[in-house]
Amino acid sequence: MEGMFDPVEKLKEFIRHPSVSTDPRFKDGMRGAQEFVSGLLSSIGFAVEVVKTDLHPIVLARRGGSPEWPHVIIYGHYDVQPVDPVNLWKSSPFEPEERDGRLYGRGSADNKGPLMVHIAAVARLLEKDPGLPLRITFMIEGEEEMGSPSFPSFLDRYREELSKADLVYLSDTGIPSEDQMVVTCGLRGLMLFELEVTASKGDLHSGLHGGVLRNPIQAVAELIASLHTPDGRVNVPGFYDDVLEVEPWERAELKRLGTSEEQYRQFLGVPAFHTPPGYSPFEAIRFLPTLEFNGISGGYQGEGTKTVIPSKASVKVSCRLVPNQKPERIRELVYKAIEERMPKDVSFRLITQHGGIPYVVVPPDRSNTPADQSPRLAQAFRAVDSAVTEVFGKAPLYLREGGSVPIIADIKRVLGLDSVMLGLFLPEDNLHAPNESFNLRVMRRGIDSSERILARLARGK
Ligand code: BES
Ligand code: MN
Repeated sequence: MEGMFDPVEKLKEFIRHPSVSTDPRFKDGMRGAQEFVSGLLSSIGFAVEVVKTDLHPIVLARRGGSPEWPHVIIYGHYDVQPVDPVNLWKSSPFEPEERDGRLYGRGSADNKGPLMVHIAAVARLLEKDPGLPLRITFMIEGEEEMGSPSFPSFLDRYREELSKADLVYLSDTGIPSEDQMVVTCGLRGLMLFELEVTASKGDLHSGLHGGVLRNPIQAVAELIASLHTPDGRVNVPGFYDDVLEVEPWERAELKRLGTSEEQYRQFLGVPAFHTPPGYSPFEAIRFLPTLEFNGISGGYQGEGTKTVIPSKASVKVSCRLVPNQKPERIRELVYKAIEERMPKDVSFRLITQHGGIPYVVVPPDRSNTPADQSPRLAQAFRAVDSAVTEVFGKAPLYLREGGSVPIIADIKRVLGLDSVMLGLFLPEDNLHAPNESFNLRVMRRGIDSSERILARLARGK
């Protein structure tokens, strides 16, 4: 054998493929990244199948073995977010650069670095022990950052085979600091849409026609201003009906986070928090649903002035949902509120975009009402706990996360499998923003941990 590859060098190669899934101009980069992952997995002994979808293929790579051996599916995504505003990057987003113990580049943390952690761990482990009694299937998609449109039908197609695995294992979530690891036990769901309001059939001179019609910008502004109460709750009847009580162990776990609210406030750069009553900022992120405005447009945006009444105005909206809320139900409630509140002298359109179900998994030994779990899943949680404690000198925390990886709930729904999620990115990694980076110390210790986790899974203890 030629010896283990250098994970940081490999990660640089991976980042050099500009794999922006939402933008058709990056077709070559998408193919490059897919071929890179396929090649790497095949070089460490996996049988690689590139599964075609309507858009970006899924890499399915198998290491089989005896049906007695535990079987883990490792999930990751090779696509990345767009890079704009590109002028705010200190180094080029697709030219990885090492500075101060970090590797900068789009996708370094989300999700190429964390995925490389697990590929490197598997490679190392198999090099030491080619007969390792563990079946491993990598399942790596290229559409995560656009809502994984092809993933559910892929799962349906491969259900027979994949549902026989024991669990899914991945890193696409965060940690609060370099030395505090987290096992992510829940993800928020999503519901997205756009509201477009039309007043007149074309733009109008505000002198000739101003004062006789409702301005569409005003209609959008008044409508969206009605969607929250002054204390920060979502003002849509029924919005909170399905939200579950938070279990005491979860609140207790959060108290051990190690980040103060004041530190967090400064990190955000806000003068004060604006959280619904009864929830700390750290709780609100994880335990409450939200309704957010992601973009607003209408009228003249250029230099100087223009005396115009625009014909249209629009706003992009996203809701984060917590366990037991259903995206379709929340969509109905929000649409109904908008329909009722919209003035009758304008017309409007609701453009439905993708969504995702929230996910929660209860780790063993935590809850007073333990979930019904397969022994191998429970064992995997214990393997992560021991491995992380050995490598980081400190046990992981078990926390829900505010972000979303919608396919995790799809995997549960279609395959019946739970996911063990090891957080690896830091608040300062700038996910989805300029100057994204991955902390290389976390990377190295992540590989050490993952290697031990997989070895324990194989040993069944
Ligand atoms: N890795 C993130 C999810 C994430 C972000 C988890 C922050 C925990 C903390 C993932 O790639 C992502 O960005 N997901 C999107 C959803 C997707 C449907 C566009 C998200 O959460 O906005
Ligand atoms: Mn991600």
